Amino acid sequence: MDKIIITGGRRLQGDIKVSGAKNAALPILASVILGGGECTVTNVPRVVDVFTMGKLLGILGATVKTEGNRVVMKMDALRSSEAPYDLVRTMRASVVVLGPLLARWGEAIVSLPGGCAIGSRPVNLHLAGLEQMGATVTVEHGYIKAKAPRLKGARICLDFPTVTGTENLMMAACLADGTTVIENVAKEPEIVDLAAFLVKRGARIAGAGTDMITIEGVKELRGADHEVIPDRIEAGTYLAAAAITGGDVCVKDCRPQHLEAVTAKLREAGAEVTESKESVRLKASKRLKSVDVKTYPYPGFATDMQAQMMALMCVAQGTSVITETVFEGRFIHVPELQRMGANIKVDGSHAVVTGTTQLSGAAVMASDLRASAGLVVAGLAAEGDTEIARVYHLDRGYERIEEKLSGLGAAIRRVPGMGQPNQIAKGRA
Ligand code: EPZ
Repeated sequence: MDKIIITGGRRLQGDIKVSGAKNAALPILASVILGGGECTVTNVPRVVDVFTMGKLLGILGATVKTEGNRVVMKMDALRSSEAPYDLVRTMRASVVVLGPLLARWGEAIVSLPGGCAIGSRPVNLHLAGLEQMGATVTVEHGYIKAKAPRLKGARICLDFPTVTGTENLMMAACLADGTTVIENVAKEPEIVDLAAFLVKRGARIAGAGTDMITIEGVKELRGADHEVIPDRIEAGTYLAAAAITGGDVCVKDCRPQHLEAVTAKLREAGAEVTESKESVRLKASKRLKSVDVKTYPYPGFATDMQAQMMALMCVAQGTSVITETVFEGRFIHVPELQRMGANIKVDGSHAVVTGTTQLSGAAVMASDLRASAGLVVAGLAAEGDTEIARVYHLDRGYERIEEKLSGLGAAIRRVPGMGQPNQIAKGRA
């Protein structure tokens, strides 16, 4: 297993480019299932989750050709309507093939993803929505089995604005008979990007990015080209990295408007943040002060940035209360940060972080994608070496992270291990 070793204490400086958003690319790739035309998607990050999605789509019958950050794909025939456990358990986002399979091919068999390091993560809202659209859904032997000769438009109100649930239902509704209205939907930029791609393919969707999406069903979708939006979480991670090292970094090729909750907190903590059209520059000339953070669905502070912000608060002046409201107990990074000398007390969904002047490098273990990113941020500021094991979690969502951070002056290197681990039961975010 590869390891990442960071020698902390280097001030980050310079420009860093953001890759395409993993969480936009995944549903966009899955949506190939909805029609027969050729689709070319660019700015697709070369990360393990994207490769897993490509593999899954191949099993289902799509042709997926990848060349650098460009993916050309097409699906003319169904080879299998089953998303097998072996793939779904390595990547929960596989569940986004459920809606498209059912809508175009009338049947879908998708393994239930099971538990996850960041919470129980049920998919009940995906299933209830599909049932409201006329599908028969059963769960047998660990698999979701859904059938519907043709889905019907429906009025659906989600109990919680689930991201992949919104994506699944929006994609399913594209080919349903009649109009579907989904209320209390997720408003994440990744939803808007998926909707934009579907509209290019001939879908009739209105309201993406608001609380309510209306989809008028069409017979089929055609091929189209699309460029995936920049990854706001990757961008936020680099801003946190710049801030913790007292650096001066310009994060390029991002959408500052997608980062507002993060940049507002960084400013409140005392960093100097300036935005231009496609970049955000952060300068931190003095020790930052503690700020309270509460995660919310977009446009609130993203749960996917909570670990990185917590790392920053570990060395800020004062005490910060970090509240996680999206996932129960997404604090798996806390014991690892404590190994690095952080002063954190967890009480349910709250973590109270009292800043210390110096973290100390330690051997730590990555436990999920964003927890690993938090450890990288902490390691950049820690005294001495931080050795992060189970780096495959990071590889699921960050493209060439050690290379990009090295470009800013970080002392970070990958030490190849004895072959890749079996990801099974380890990474599922
Ligand atoms: C997406 O996961 C992202 N994944 C996650 O990113 C992200 O953390 C999360 O949204 C929240 O922003 C992708 O986009 C591929 P949810 P998702 O359904 O869709 C509850 C990363 O690191 N819920 O919005 O699975 C659920 O338990 C990953 O890149 C139900 O109760 O998240 C959770 O508490 C990790 N029933 C809350 O909703 C359901 O049917 C939000 O989950 C569905 C969800």
